Amino acid sequence: MKLWGGRFQKAVDNLVNDFNSSIRTDGRMFKEDIDGSLAHVKMLIAQDIIPKQDGEKIISGLTEISKRIENGVIEIDPSSEDIHSFIEATLTYYIGDEGKKLHTGRSRNDQVTLDTRLYLKKELKNLINVILSFEETLLIKAEENIDTIMPGYTHMQKAQPITFAHHLLAYGEMFKRDLGRIKDALKRMDEMPLGSGALATSTYPIDREMVAKELDFASISLNSLDAVSDRDYVIETLSALSMIMMHLSRFSEEVILWCTHEFSFIELDDAYSTGSSIMPQKKNPDVAELVRGKTGRVYGDLITLLTLMKGIPLAYNKDMQEDKEALFDALDTVFLSIKTFNGMLKTMRIKKDNMRKGALGGFTNATDVADYLVKKGVAFRNAHEVVGAIVLHCINKGINIEELSLEALKEFSSYFEEDIYNAISLETCVEERKVIGGPSSKSVKIQLEALKNFIDNNKIV
Ligand code: ARG
Repeated sequence: MKLWGGRFQKAVDNLVNDFNSSIRTDGRMFKEDIDGSLAHVKMLIAQDIIPKQDGEKIISGLTEISKRIENGVIEIDPSSEDIHSFIEATLTYYIGDEGKKLHTGRSRNDQVTLDTRLYLKKELKNLINVILSFEETLLIKAEENIDTIMPGYTHMQKAQPITFAHHLLAYGEMFKRDLGRIKDALKRMDEMPLGSGALATSTYPIDREMVAKELDFASISLNSLDAVSDRDYVIETLSALSMIMMHLSRFSEEVILWCTHEFSFIELDDAYSTGSSIMPQKKNPDVAELVRGKTGRVYGDLITLLTLMKGIPLAYNKDMQEDKEALFDALDTVFLSIKTFNGMLKTMRIKKDNMRKGALGGFTNATDVADYLVKKGVAFRNAHEVVGAIVLHCINKGINIEELSLEALKEFSSYFEEDIYNAISLETCVEERKVIGGPSSKSVKIQLEALKNFIDNNKIV
């Protein structure tokens, strides 16, 4: 049933009907649509805009419809224009003409943005908890690997020794900020738009504050044109989701590298790997590759919205109906990606010996040799020069710096003493970096504590 047959003399072309319809996408907001309508009708009753009896009939009708959709007794009709028309038509079908009073003082333009906000407020709270369980996995894995030394890289070249815990906690920090961005987006979208009407509110004595309170919004929107045509909150959400995927994608790239025969730092659990149909030996990191790949999809969703909105004059235009497909696709992708990645991380085997071996090569202690000389009184720039020459010498001999005898070292600088060997062991290199933010067990424990507090303080129950 159409909501707007009156001024038309002809039915809409079937193709146009299909083209115009958004129900396959917005059908998932049925609960929010009904909750919004319930709040609206309660307000209509309280303000004497519709008779109490009619309003109560609408309330029980909507409540029943909500239950029946949930139980699968009512199926959402895919030929409806959108979820708003479907619910209203179903209501009138169930309770009769009183159902036709529901839309008093309201438009689908303010209704759709209300529903989207309600839906996002719920889903983003779920997402916060999903991010927190991922943080918990990072925390557990980091706690298990405080002493697991691995090479840290810059330019994909071995740089300085760090620990696996330190590396994991870098992601811990990124996801803390990601969660913060979601919270910020939630704060700004917490404005109740209903009452804005199609674009210019209405002449009924509506009580918007009552509706906001009923639906647990922090405030009401202040400009009706803005309220019905704003999709900033969708873009902000997509931007935060893109950032999450970007972080997951970087992590995926590392997981893929670490799994290679060349690195061999980790082994994925069988439950999180896949085989090849032709090469029997293969164990592929498909989960990480798919997360990396799906990142492009979420970026695409963000670009869809930015492009969609850039040329739209005020106020509502039908272009905006396209927002939800991109939004829901991004949400689904992010939920699935974090959850699957979380399981992969939880079950991966860390090859501690190989990580350590990796840190032993590539002169990762060269900075510490220079720092040793500085502490003995050599200027850093001179020390840097001396160690550069030592490294070149070692490359030619195919050995590490600590394999040189004290005598050989003294040829490069008379400041070298027997204590050099202890000063440049992997353990010292890591443990002496006690600065806040560093890889030493002392600094990592501070990071762990901060992450633990963050998780405790941000859980939504
Ligand atoms: N289904 C539309 C959307 O998602 C809302 C309906 C507004 N349509 C209209 N012709 N005023 O944006």
